[in-house]
Amino acid sequence: MRQIPIYFYSSTSGMVRQFAQALGRPVFDLTEREVRQSVPDGPWVLLTPSYKTGNADNDTIPEPVKRFLHDPATRRRMVGVMGSGNRNFGRHYQAAARDIAARSKRPVLFEFELQGTQWDVEEAKELLRELDVQFSPRQ
Ligand SMILES: Cc1cc2nc3c(=O)[nH]c(=O)nc-3n(C[C@H](O)[C@H](O)[C@H](O)COP(=O)(O)O)c2cc1C
Repeated sequence: MRQIPIYFYSSTSGMVRQFAQALGRPVFDLTEREVRQSVPDGPWVLLTPSYKTGNADNDTIPEPVKRFLHDPATRRRMVGVMGSGNRNFGRHYQAAARDIAARSKRPVLFEFELQGTQWDVEEAKELLRELDVQFSPRQ
């Protein structure tokens, strides 16, 4: 069965990268230009942290994520969003994942703090296995 790939952005602190790499499925790093410029060939899931910039509109979506979502086919094939955040950011908690989900009318599939716990990883794995089934082409 096709495993739905994860496209993630992670900064140099690498917390999202650590989580992504623990999922045991194909993961693609949006800090790499070739990945950012590619278009997924089927259903895929976005995994993003939120980064409050402190500017007037408090935009929290990482720039590489924005660029990747520029392509309409890429947006159409996105089945949901997972977010990493930090509750210390109060009302901005998970702002990027929630904002993208709302704008694209896709669900927030899972939220966790920082690099997540081992239980977070297990829960995300299970949820993704269910999505694999849901989105597998019918025979
Ligand atoms: C400058 C800065 C701004 C942040 N802004 C937010 C925010 O607005 N909302 C949130 O939930 N988390 C926020 N966080 C927490 C990060 O999203 C969280 O630590 C995430 O795990 C970082 O992932 P990364 O290490 O892969 O880049 C911020 C962290 C930093 C350093």
